[in-house]
Amino acid sequence: MSFDVKVIRKEFPILSTEIDGKPLVYLDNAATTQKPQCVIDSLVDYYTTCNSNVHRGAHRLADEATKRFEHARDVVTKFVNASSREEVIWTSGTTESINIVANGLSQLLQEGDEVVVSEMEHHANLVTWQQACKASGANLRIAPVNDAGELRVDLFNEMLNSKTKLVALPHISNALGTINPIKELIKTARAHDAWVLIDGAQGIAHSPVDVQQLDCDFYAFSAHKLFGPTGVGVLWGRKSLLEKWPLWQTGGEMISEVSYQDAKWNDLPYRFEAGTPNIAGVIGMGTAIEWFSQLDMPALQAHERELLSYAEKQAAALEGLTVIGAASEKIGVLSFIMDVGHPADVGFLLDRQGVAIRTGHHCAEPLMKRLQVPGTARASFSIYNTFEEIDVLFEALKKAKNMLA
Ligand code: ALA
Repeated sequence: MSFDVKVIRKEFPILSTEIDGKPLVYLDNAATTQKPQCVIDSLVDYYTTCNSNVHRGAHRLADEATKRFEHARDVVTKFVNASSREEVIWTSGTTESINIVANGLSQLLQEGDEVVVSEMEHHANLVTWQQACKASGANLRIAPVNDAGELRVDLFNEMLNSKTKLVALPHISNALGTINPIKELIKTARAHDAWVLIDGAQGIAHSPVDVQQLDCDFYAFSAHKLFGPTGVGVLWGRKSLLEKWPLWQTGGEMISEVSYQDAKWNDLPYRFEAGTPNIAGVIGMGTAIEWFSQLDMPALQAHERELLSYAEKQAAALEGLTVIGAASEKIGVLSFIMDVGHPADVGFLLDRQGVAIRTGHHCAEPLMKRLQVPGTARASFSIYNTFEEIDVLFEALKKAKNMLA
């Protein structure tokens, strides 16, 4: 297989957009990725040819919608190497996936139990556990990071003990791009009989995920950071755990039998899928993963690494720019501050030049405080970005710097 960035770019119609007459340079991929034409087409085709509810109809459209919807589950099962399709639960995204686990955990925790997260969490993988601990009297422990934004594995290891019930960690930090050694961390947690949830929001598009090989208990991710639609995602969970995990929402689909007094629960995965799901979103997600799976993953990873090191060289040469997050293992995320102007000013001036980045705390406010920055400007790269776009970014940064000085 080979990889040609020009060929990939042609599949993304939005990449030929202009902003104020300048070509769009889209470097906000950690927030959301753009969508290839095949994903857009699959959404349009669903609504045009078989829009219908799933699992419920006695007609041809419902059959076709159900077939496409359940096909997507098979696609995800294979993509993450789940041991069965019953382990793949549709959710609205990573945040809901984590909430399903945290809501259940809050009913299983007892006073004095411990949940371990890290200083690099996205709010979705922090606030949820804060609430679960508050509701149950358990303690939330925060494993530190070093100044480079890497998890202090030594201190993490020391934190685990017989009271640790669950460890929840990001595969990859959204704010800094740090790749965590999750296989090793999962092994340590499981040696303490703790359950492990991996927040895979950033991980899923940047490294192959094999949940059986990782040996975690839950892996959460969204479609929209993986070239799929917004508002849909996955909770993968170990079947033996999901079978006993407390319910999430109740309603239609998640039941097997209902009387006026009581109800019995459906089998997995439907037990966690109350209500009409995001059918088009699920189908679009399946298409996105089928599209992504046929690409050459090692070549994509190499391209992203080269983009990062190209950007890092230019960052080092730009006086007044400080990179925040210097982990030795990183994806293509360049978080930085300038010695003039607030990150928001930098973002505003880049936008005027057609360059789209994200600024602020990146839903990781405590991490920004830990690193003693008000927030950062973050350029995040994807498989369709080019070296020329990074040149445009740095030309735009130089202009922004002059204007702010
Ligand atoms: N979590 C997304 C980000 O990092 C929205 O930008």
